Amino acid sequence: MLVKVYGSAVFGVEASKITVEVNIDKGVGYHLVGLPDNAIKESSYRIAAALKNNGYQLPGKKITINLAPADLRKEGSAYDLTLAIGILVASGQIKADEIDKYIIMGELSLDGGLQPIKGALSIAIKAREEGFKGFFLPIQNVKEAAIVDGLDVYGIENVTQVIDFFEGNATIEPTVINTREEFYKTLDFPEFDFSDVKGQESIKRCMEIAAAGGHNIILIGPPGSGKTMLAKRLPSILPPMTLKEALETTKIHSVAGKIKDAGLMSQRPFRSPHHTASSVSLVGGGSYPQPGEISLSHNGVLFLDELPEFKREVLEVMRQPLEDREVTISRAKFTITYPSSFMLVASMNPSPSGFFNDPGAPVSSSPMEMQRYLSKISGPLLDRIDIHVEVTPVPFEKLTETRKAESSFEIRKRVTRAREIQTKRFESLENVHYNAQMGTKLVREYCELEPVSLELLKNAMEKLNLSARAYDRILKVSRTIADLEASDKVESMHIAEAIQYRSLDREGWLG
Ligand SMILES: Nc1ncnc2c1ncn2[C@@H]1O[C@H](COP(=O)(O)OP(=O)(O)O)[C@@H](O)[C@H]1O
Ligand SMILES: [Mg+2]
Repeated sequence: MLVKVYGSAVFGVEASKITVEVNIDKGVGYHLVGLPDNAIKESSYRIAAALKNNGYQLPGKKITINLAPADLRKEGSAYDLTLAIGILVASGQIKADEIDKYIIMGELSLDGGLQPIKGALSIAIKAREEGFKGFFLPIQNVKEAAIVDGLDVYGIENVTQVIDFFEGNATIEPTVINTREEFYKTLDFPEFDFSDVKGQESIKRCMEIAAAGGHNIILIGPPGSGKTMLAKRLPSILPPMTLKEALETTKIHSVAGKIKDAGLMSQRPFRSPHHTASSVSLVGGGSYPQPGEISLSHNGVLFLDELPEFKREVLEVMRQPLEDREVTISRAKFTITYPSSFMLVASMNPSPSGFFNDPGAPVSSSPMEMQRYLSKISGPLLDRIDIHVEVTPVPFEKLTETRKAESSFEIRKRVTRAREIQTKRFESLENVHYNAQMGTKLVREYCELEPVSLELLKNAMEKLNLSARAYDRILKVSRTIADLEASDKVESMHIAEAIQYRSLDREGWLG
């Protein structure tokens, strides 16, 4: 008998419908066609054991399975359950009249239990689009799939639950989550808050400016000065995620299999890959392409702690995605794209020994060591960082102060207002939404200076020996500072402040 059951394949962050045709005939053999990879080919062993251990069997006949469309690559073990149910129906072991109204997916353990799958949210979106009535999937993934309404989503723990459902022996309740309600309920509770950070007013000011204009930022300071603590709090002052952003971000995390028993993400992601990370883990790819850290940070913050410790080629591959806000992975037969729009926060010690120009330091680095250290970050990546700021540890008295500092909630109000001004400013442009995204032409248009301000900038550049690349960045940052004050014009004082945020352009650093 020939039976059709349905599964789904995920490419990039989008899913496609896969029709699984199972035909059982006289003879012997197990033939799987339609571009399956090795994990799918091995499914017969898992299916055989899982069925046997639950009182069913892989029939000793000729089983032919076709995965259509044939030109789409299917990979991974998530088709086990689809195939198992197809085989049971095609061999007449179970009766399932409505089998073609459901997408069924999950990896089988030998006892018939289920292992989680990747991309459940994308598959659920596709299932609804294609008019399916429901989606059976491992219970571990049910909350991410339940984000989609208009689809009955069944989280199951064992293959027998699906069998009982179709045979009418038992009912399963679909998981229902009021996504919107849950989302708005948790939106205002970031994990870390700026009120925990004592002192450091000027650094907080820099972070506020960075958040307001979407500027990438680097924090330079000795170990223990609070760089990691500060970076972790950046997501809490960015404007709250919109439902659309939350969906985009959750989809990527779902595709990467990084969602553990949760639904829609309501907090902007904060990712902090270790400096030993490979290019693939950072930008994505691999033989079964997966999103990398830059995509897991989509709509949030990527923190590169100890930037000069990262391998140069790893930093190099981030250049393009940082510019394009998406990353394209090309293979001989296909290309996929993952979104990667994030704010970059980097940190570094002032020198390999952790100290620089500090007579009281326990160790210091030779000029040669310094140069080697800094040369790693100069160039392409540093060129995309608008704000450089030096962090000095807060004195002990400040640390023990009991007065609560300003909360992230308050800071975020100002950031959000400044963002609204920018959204309006760039309304007619498709790819520019905030100041950091301005190219030279837009900088000329929106950061016009009066003669006195221009003179100030010129003098400062000469006196501080700032490089030419600093010029546009100072203008962009001063635009954001002006926006925080709701000032139409970029004034001298805005320029004066922005000039301070170019530490690494000054003599003695990168020269
Ligand atoms: N301004 C501060 N307010 C409160 N605690 C601080 C502050 N600066 C540093 N700390 C404490 O010192 C610890 C080390 O800071 P950390 O952010 O790890 O420093 P870094 O990343 O610069 O090495 C933090 O976990 C925090 O407990
Ligand atoms: Mg740190």
